[in-house]
Amino acid sequence: MTNINTLERDILGAVKAAPDEAALETIRVAALGKKGTISELLKTLGSMSADERKINGPLFNGLRDKVTFAIATRKTELGDAALNARLGNEKIDVTLPPRPEPHGSIHPVSQVFDEITTILGELGFAIAEGPDVEFDDYNFTKLNIPPDHPARQMQDTFYLAKQADGSQHILRTHTSPVQVRTMLRQKPPIRIVAPGRTYRVDSDATHSPMFHQFELLVIDEGIHLGHLKWTIEEFCKAFFEVDEVELRARPSFFPFTEPSVEWDLRCDRAVPNQIKFGQGNDWLELGGSGMINPRVLEMCGLDPDVYQGFAFGGGIDRLGMLKYGVPDIRSFFESDLRWLRHYGFAALDMPSLDGGLSR
Ligand code: DAH
Repeated sequence: MTNINTLERDILGAVKAAPDEAALETIRVAALGKKGTISELLKTLGSMSADERKINGPLFNGLRDKVTFAIATRKTELGDAALNARLGNEKIDVTLPPRPEPHGSIHPVSQVFDEITTILGELGFAIAEGPDVEFDDYNFTKLNIPPDHPARQMQDTFYLAKQADGSQHILRTHTSPVQVRTMLRQKPPIRIVAPGRTYRVDSDATHSPMFHQFELLVIDEGIHLGHLKWTIEEFCKAFFEVDEVELRARPSFFPFTEPSVEWDLRCDRAVPNQIKFGQGNDWLELGGSGMINPRVLEMCGLDPDVYQGFAFGGGIDRLGMLKYGVPDIRSFFESDLRWLRHYGFAALDMPSLDGGLSR
């Protein structure tokens, strides 16, 4: 019979000397695997007499337990050593400076979004949102534009297939339906700014089928045109980063406001690609506005004898083009990397009124 002590010494010696986990596994299989030396030894117990087995059983099993324990111990040792070696090699120098050039930048439209909401947030406006796919009812009817109204033709609309219940979904042609959604959900006082995507069937250097607008809505008791003018004035000063601006009000018509006013901002365009505000002989169209038509208040569940309000709607891309000198609106949406690198803004420079809007 194999000398048990020799076998034990050999195996335990080999286990101790195993240089890595793969070598250890080979030793384990050779000893404890199906055809391993110890396994074979254990098999011989079956053919032994009861007396022999009494002596050899504990001996063989003891050997198996010792070897199993030794292998587990060596395995832990080797694992620890491997981990320590890896940690030793994988040093990170936390004092290294961060990457000098961030690769991404903020799109000018996002920048103008942030500037607008920052300014109006400071004036106490909350941000409101509505879906791009809108009910015809909210985009038109509840804004006092009934189905046969000529104003529907003013805005070339993308229509979606009619719903099973007969209702009509469209891509919203303006952000004004957010007014409706807000009034239906919330009681005055209301003060919201709603920036977002809008869609019309239109495409040239100053029109894109998808573009961005922002909507202002203020409703409370005793709101009048003076509040509207002041708000627009403050907005323009902050947005164009000038101390003084001059506004011109032009009477206009929108079905959802009465009276309706369009605002122009005095500017100087004498030097090409350099627009200056608060001086000069040119006027820049800002957007439409007016006092909320009492019929709209009524259709949205508010009592026009108690509440008045004003609304304003303007183009975000247009403001961005003017402020940052972008000549073609379509370039905003072409995802040209060179364009984005040129016109993009640093990712961590969030606009703030005291920190600077566009720096
Ligand atoms: N929704 C209008 C448009 O896209 C703009 C507008 C005009 C919005 C008057 C208003 C408003 O809130 O009062 O042409």
